[in-house]
Amino acid sequence: RLNAALKGRFARIDVVERTGSTNADLRKALDEGVADRTVLLAEEQTAGVGRRARSWSSPKGAGLYLSVALRPGVPFHALGSLSVVAGLAVRAAAAAVGIDARLKWPNDALIDGAKCAGILAEAVAGEPPSVVLGIGLNVLPLGDVEPGPGGLPATSLAEHDAWNTDRTDVAIALLSEFDGLEKRWRLAAGDLTEAGLLGDYRAACATLGQDVEVQLPDGASLIGRAADIDPAGQLQVDVAGGQRHTVFAGDVVHVRR
Ligand code: BTN
Repeated sequence: RLNAALKGRFARIDVVERTGSTNADLRKALDEGVADRTVLLAEEQTAGVGRRARSWSSPKGAGLYLSVALRPGVPFHALGSLSVVAGLAVRAAAAAVGIDARLKWPNDALIDGAKCAGILAEAVAGEPPSVVLGIGLNVLPLGDVEPGPGGLPATSLAEHDAWNTDRTDVAIALLSEFDGLEKRWRLAAGDLTEAGLLGDYRAACATLGQDVEVQLPDGASLIGRAADIDPAGQLQVDVAGGQRHTVFAGDVVHVRR
């Protein structure tokens, strides 16, 4: 049904019963020359990964676990905005079943402050680089899971009275949104303003206006007010003393509200 509904929109869409991690599978497939815009969806992951090498709980039938292999032909520095595009697609898929999901920059979707989806974009070296974009969206309750990356409690669409919790329908909504948004993003070479997406993201972003602590990979931490998102998808943080810092999504280890 997924393939029929999305006919012609992706190079191919494979659905498997179970795998370790769809991101790991497509990273390998990219090395082996897989086509741009190949989608892999698993009913269950046995070694689902989140950011910072955490695990992503992926029990059979509870969530959407999917990855897209992309060769967008944009330079490395423009890839940070791809998580923004994926976040907007998740938000639209949630909206299609009556749920207002807000986006926590750079990688999470929240419902009432709890995490319902996570995004993991992994660049694969090359010139230009290719990317595996992984999306995990909790549709049905997961049962007992530890708080996700960032310490947020987990939730699902079903726990917020989604109109429809058929995972195939949600996958169709998510991928068809992503298809259109990613085309715009690519044509604009990753520039969110040019793609016409920055306004939508600003409006959907729960991080803006909040006091944040951003931990950088070198261990340093930046404390300030999340002031804006720039066209490259970077967060602008105003620190005490009035200085503005730019944080690249790929550099962030943890954003605390
Ligand atoms: C995060 O919030 O830390 C990101 C979670 C990303 C999970 C998805 S599920 C599909 C894809 N395959 C994986 O192993 N991870 C991503």
